[in-house]
Amino acid sequence: MLRVRPAKKIAGTVRVPGDKSISHRAVMFGALAEGVTTIEGFLPGADCLSTISCFRRMGIEIEQQGDKVTVQGKGWYGLQEPMQHLDVGNSGTTIRLMSGILATQPFHTVMEGDESIAKRPMRRVIGPLRQMGAKIDGRKDGEFTPLSIRGGKLQSMAYQSPVASAQVKSAILLAGLQAEGVTSVTEPHLSRDHTERMMQAFGVSVVRDGLTVSVEGGQKLTGRAISVPGDISSAAFLIAAVMVVPGSSLLIENVGINPSRTGIIDVVKAMGGSLELQNERIVNEEPVADLLVTHSQLHGIEISGDIIPRLIDEIPVIAVMATQAIGQTVIRDAEELKVKETDRIATVVSQLSKFGGRVTPTDDGMIIEGQTALTGAVIDSMGDHRIGMAMAIAGLAATGETGIENEEAINVSFPGFEELLKNISQ
Ligand code: S3P
Repeated sequence: MLRVRPAKKIAGTVRVPGDKSISHRAVMFGALAEGVTTIEGFLPGADCLSTISCFRRMGIEIEQQGDKVTVQGKGWYGLQEPMQHLDVGNSGTTIRLMSGILATQPFHTVMEGDESIAKRPMRRVIGPLRQMGAKIDGRKDGEFTPLSIRGGKLQSMAYQSPVASAQVKSAILLAGLQAEGVTSVTEPHLSRDHTERMMQAFGVSVVRDGLTVSVEGGQKLTGRAISVPGDISSAAFLIAAVMVVPGSSLLIENVGINPSRTGIIDVVKAMGGSLELQNERIVNEEPVADLLVTHSQLHGIEISGDIIPRLIDEIPVIAVMATQAIGQTVIRDAEELKVKETDRIATVVSQLSKFGGRVTPTDDGMIIEGQTALTGAVIDSMGDHRIGMAMAIAGLAATGETGIENEEAINVSFPGFEELLKNISQ
């Protein structure tokens, strides 16, 4: 059990582990590219290690030591038919992006993962890939794992996605790279665009026109060196820690600030928090900065619309911050929360309530009442890394001790979280 005591102050200069989305893509693109790809700043969390193990099973040589990875790319068709099922663990990004890649391969694969993956919707990627000509099946007509994929020649398509999902967009664009003609995806709101940026870094031409992005089939990826910035979704827990503990200040160095991910920065500022970007730079087509975060009294706001995909993973910890803000915070248009690692509307409400937090679930979000005094509690991560970490941050602002059960889930995206939190807590 992870134990958290109330903090008097949060202070220091820190770095967070590498960006999860970018780390997955660096391994995948490196495996499909011609030549060697070296990665530094890789996130050695359970999810990205699942991606590495899937490619190893398809005959790709990958050396990984901590945050340094070398991938011996063999070109798009250098993958071999795996002799066993591919285990994606807890990783939605792995299974959904790999579906797009495997749909193009001239062999058969079966992918499955843990209990959480078995409950997550897959038809959102399988549907369009079937339309492109892939033969894919799964439980409940392809809605759930295990997924069985027999890839082959695909036709291009212009896909109107009903959801703003980077996983759906990426799977189709990856498949599109081997389809004949131009494949495009149009989203209702812009989701994270790391795939588009990294395709360009690997030498692929990608065209964006508003909410539509397209690639022409038949383009090659060329291996290269990739430097992964710190994950803003991990930094979000530390930003929240500063905002819930009076007198705190923290410098978080080397954080990715891709505009499709910085909803958390906009929200903290809109709530009255002090957050300054320093040393802004571009690394491998991705903007990066150091974040200077200083405690300030927050006030409640409404969070809805276009900003939701830009902060979807941060909503659990935003809810925690909102308990310490003056007034009400309302989150709308976030029904996607229900199909994350857990139903995050339900798990935020059930776990935050154990501290005495006042949170009401709605159909597409939640309403959080501030400013609420929290009392330390024993909570359950429910196997969801971000629920475990969000509740640890609540524990910093609570009176008495907090215990987080099933804390090992945190390793999915933030190995070393407990130690880092101890180092910055006074
Ligand atoms: C991710 C996309 C998002 C996000 C997930 C990582 C990615 O999911 O929640 O943590 O790396 O593409 P959706 O595409 O389902 O919105």
